[in-house]
Amino acid sequence: MIHPGILAYGPIACRKRSVARLPAVFGRIDHIGVAVEDLDGAIELYRDRFEMREQHRETVEAFGVEAVLLEIGDGHVELLRPTGPDSGVAKFLARNGPGMHHVAYQTADIDSALSSARDAGFRLIDEHPRSGIQNSRVAFLHPKSTGGVLTELVEPSH
Ligand code: CO
Repeated sequence: MIHPGILAYGPIACRKRSVARLPAVFGRIDHIGVAVEDLDGAIELYRDRFEMREQHRETVEAFGVEAVLLEIGDGHVELLRPTGPDSGVAKFLARNGPGMHHVAYQTADIDSALSSARDAGFRLIDEHPRSGIQNSRVAFLHPKSTGGVLTELVEPSH
């Protein structure tokens, strides 16, 4: 079978490459972000019924959320409850109700990942990384340019 990658050598694919492709800046899935209204109820579901270990709890001022991380394999579920009405998560809840909010990919170098994303034509929500949970550095890509999925890049603290 011909590897599909071989098609990338065609002239059309080459022309599109700079717009469509993001070089390999995604390491692995770091976490799935879930918007919740009832944090205790959500913890009961994930910790007590799904039996994921609660690993960390933190109010992240920059994002106006109280966040709880639960372990699942090498990754996490991140429960997010807004601390006020103005945060992105509060607006998401008002529009959609509780549910999946974003997917976060780990990257070793968020500055270069973000500039690669910009160069590849993705719409950035954050022009510069912000402080996230556990002293990580994070930045979001707009769901309008990522097939409807709010996409977070995370560089863990070193
Ligand atoms: Co997140």
